[in-house]
Amino acid sequence: MAIRQPIVTVAGHVDHGKTTILDSIRGSVVQAGEAGGITQRISFTAFPKDEIRERCPKVLVEIPGFLFIDTPGHAAFSNLRKRGGALADMAVLVIDINEGIKPQTAEVIEILKLNKTPFVIALNKVDNISGWSKQNEDMRKNIEAQSTNAKQDFEEKMLILVGALHSHGFEAAPYYDITDFTSKVALIPCSGKTGEGISELISMLCGLSQKFLKGRLSLGKEAKGVVIEIKKQKALRYVEAILYDGVLAAKEEIVIASFDEPITGKIRILEEILPLSTKFKPVHKAHAAIGIRMQLTEAVDILPGMPFQVLKDNKEEIRAEFKKEVGEKTKTDDEGIIVKADSLGSLEALMILLREEGVKIVKAGIGNIDKKDVISATTNLKSDPTQAVILGFNVVHEEDIHELPLEGIKILENDVVYRLIEDLKEYQDRKRKEIEKEKLLGLSAVCKLHILPDHVFRNSNPAIFGVRIEAGKLRAGTKIMNENGEEVAKVKNIQAEKKKVEEAGKGEEVAISLPGVNFERQLADKEFLYSALSAGQFKEFKKNKELLTVDEISALQRIAQIKRAKEVSWGV
Ligand code: GTP
Ligand code: MG
Repeated sequence: MAIRQPIVTVAGHVDHGKTTILDSIRGSVVQAGEAGGITQRISFTAFPKDEIRERCPKVLVEIPGFLFIDTPGHAAFSNLRKRGGALADMAVLVIDINEGIKPQTAEVIEILKLNKTPFVIALNKVDNISGWSKQNEDMRKNIEAQSTNAKQDFEEKMLILVGALHSHGFEAAPYYDITDFTSKVALIPCSGKTGEGISELISMLCGLSQKFLKGRLSLGKEAKGVVIEIKKQKALRYVEAILYDGVLAAKEEIVIASFDEPITGKIRILEEILPLSTKFKPVHKAHAAIGIRMQLTEAVDILPGMPFQVLKDNKEEIRAEFKKEVGEKTKTDDEGIIVKADSLGSLEALMILLREEGVKIVKAGIGNIDKKDVISATTNLKSDPTQAVILGFNVVHEEDIHELPLEGIKILENDVVYRLIEDLKEYQDRKRKEIEKEKLLGLSAVCKLHILPDHVFRNSNPAIFGVRIEAGKLRAGTKIMNENGEEVAKVKNIQAEKKKVEEAGKGEEVAISLPGVNFERQLADKEFLYSALSAGQFKEFKKNKELLTVDEISALQRIAQIKRAKEVSWGV
């Protein structure tokens, strides 16, 4: 039975050395050629059997090679999903030994867990440990040969990491101390820069995949793949993809899943990635697992992350299957927030993680946040403002959304799923409190007013004078009392800067009119006024104390004191 190459994803926090490790594996210098040394997009490397043999002469190599996938550290590698889980058969989690677990590392760990992907850890940049120098080609002997200080530093850093991994639910140990690889994650100290430990990393991947993945690696009959990216070059559109199973031939017809009707197109030109290179060459046939590039007769509306399959005489069957699959992966609720992601894979991962947190999703899509998403959020704003949220995972928003009113709509964008989820929770909590407070204040308002005696505009019928709001909110219609607990009047009008307003907040100076009040007689000797709450209103505020500010609480306390001076058990 033919066996295909295992697909190995290299993932980890930005700058921890993913591309450099792959360069060391390939013997290339891709990293130095990248803009700002930052990987912008997913790329693949075919690493053939002969190379494994050369790099690891002691290993008996049975697999035809590896297909390595490099991922950008600033964007999660959650894109790489296929039906039923991870596209990657295995992963290398790269961690800078001097930095330990960073946000993106934690993100990768969570997604490895979610997808149940087996992985090893490349403990990179050992050469940066103070006093470290390469002593031996064999990593184990190399560690032993380090100076006492360097060795101690190395061991301490490794121990800290083992502890941190434990708190993420994984038992880890250096690869040379592990006998049972099913229960422990292997740590492989290495340096992409000096090449130390890289052969050990390759040997480890080879040994583990031959031992544990074989069942998974048999080459299927049907050609299946996942779209990675759609690239435009002049008038041409290329579809970059990973063929993860079967054999695909040029001129064959394929069907690609989409949100609507699946897309059918014939392959005009088929290319595959050259070994150890980032270049493609035209081929008649491509064998999984391999990175490919296709020019299709139909290339409109193809989306990243969508699965594709070769068409035989089973067109309707596949189309129905794809529709069902995409439908299930992006199933939405009757209500909830709006989510956007850069590929089907990341959308699916995001949706799974959000649902675990009990978040409902009314609309899900691939691509940047656009006007249509804002319109959906606006609909939510009317029914439930806490749901007027758009999450963008690895995407940004289109500039033209600013042409629409965005008030009350929250757009959260991030490259890290759990940050996005945290931000969402925080926003919704805050919003919920605001809404409750508004409801509460809708009943009445807590306020404390400072009379401005130099600003009496009219003595009576009605009395009009200036006040400064010391705490809370003043609304037209609020009943107010004096410091002795005597009701004075209902506020008829409020004027700020000569304009009538419905309410005024803390710190504002406004003029108020009180019918039936004679300022000179009733208020000239007073300094403060308060809202005249009923005992019931007071209790309601007290119950919702956490919604009030410190000033409002102290005004509330003062109101109770005033009332209780007249009636001991007021509001108790
Ligand atoms: P992104 O693709 O942006 O997520 O980064 P990356 O994880 O691919 O890291 P990259 O390989 O670009 O390396 C980041 C920086 O660390 C570069 O300056 C590398 O030269 C340096 N670097 C990578 N590996 C090593 C290493 O083993 N030792 C030392 N000293 N420096 C390293
Ligand atoms: Mg990189």
